[in-house]
Amino acid sequence: MKLKKIALAVGGFALAISLAACGGSGAGGTATTAATGGDATQASQAPADVTIGVAMPTQTSERWIADGDAVKKGLEEAGYKVDLQFGNDDIPTQTQQIDQMITQGEKLLIIASIDGTALTSQLENAAKNGIKVIAYDRLINNSANVDFYVTFDNYKVGVAQANALLTGLGLTERDGTKKADAPKGPLNIEIFAGSPDDNNAKFFFNGAMDTLKPYLDDGTLVVKSGQTDFEKVAIMRWSQEGAQKRMEDLLTSTYGGGKEPLAGVLSPFDGISRGIITALQPKYGTTMADGLPVVTGQDAEVASVKLINDGVQSSTIFKDTRTLAAQAVTVAKAYLAGQEPEANDTTTYDNGVKVVPSYLLDIVTIFKDDIKKELIDSGYYTQAEVDAGVAS
Ligand code: BGC
Repeated sequence: MKLKKIALAVGGFALAISLAACGGSGAGGTATTAATGGDATQASQAPADVTIGVAMPTQTSERWIADGDAVKKGLEEAGYKVDLQFGNDDIPTQTQQIDQMITQGEKLLIIASIDGTALTSQLENAAKNGIKVIAYDRLINNSANVDFYVTFDNYKVGVAQANALLTGLGLTERDGTKKADAPKGPLNIEIFAGSPDDNNAKFFFNGAMDTLKPYLDDGTLVVKSGQTDFEKVAIMRWSQEGAQKRMEDLLTSTYGGGKEPLAGVLSPFDGISRGIITALQPKYGTTMADGLPVVTGQDAEVASVKLINDGVQSSTIFKDTRTLAAQAVTVAKAYLAGQEPEANDTTTYDNGVKVVPSYLLDIVTIFKDDIKKELIDSGYYTQAEVDAGVAS
């Protein structure tokens, strides 16, 4: 990893005063040194004197619990103290948590936002205090004070979801080539997207729709409801219940209460997939072998991995939270050592104020046959967890 030295602006007196005032975790010699004109970098601070704030959006989805745990573990292994908070999918809760992290003198923030546009004043305050901000998985918009973004390649996630739908429908091979014995269609499908306040949701949607376009254009696939606009298909806060409700409404409005054929549903997230599946099962069958439509997903949540193993959900996209957490830790360590972290994308993620330097990681598509190699042999889950559909 190539690291460039930079001078970090510690927030001088403001930071020294706020640290001295609270005297809690994270307060330490460097701030005093900075205030008295010494080395104004954070490099001189021993990790044990530094607390890092980690703000995760929710505990209702297991991926964020895994992310939070992995980031905490990585930072603690590097010697730092960690203040890990979950925002319960509630914007005021998350803003308060971040306000508190700043007041407590925490030296760096790692944030997976709930609403990517709701943190402008928190981030301004962080910048004033010399606190670096890493956007974790979700970009924070409308702020000049996001220093770095670690994520997976979000557009590619959408492409992979659409390709998994095409493969699940028997139209393409895993490598994207058209199948010789592919059904001619038209095949009815429906489209779901993620939360409109999450920057990622649009990337997933665009990647998927660009990939499905030729099949929609030539009539192989038909969105029978006609609902293809992002605003129409987006599910606020990625809600499982919201997805189930929309699917039930679609069955009533467009599929004769479940009597008309429906071949597949593009779903952007495993929680949404489970809501969709719950709506579909009473009408179409318990498993795909019984006639249940092909449903995609994302995150390889263990409950959905079990459904894939049982032939209920067709696929998911595995985003290895261990690698993302490790990347966040690498970036945090670089900043706290007064160095500039390495980015591998400096053009894609414009947050409305600036292009945020980013590090994008790769993803893996999971069908039933991939579970053993990618999820069990890699140690992400045990066989017992997959069998139970619950992480221990
Ligand atoms: C993440 C996805 C996740 C979704 C719902 C997005 O920001 O990138 O991995 O499925 O949030 O939690």
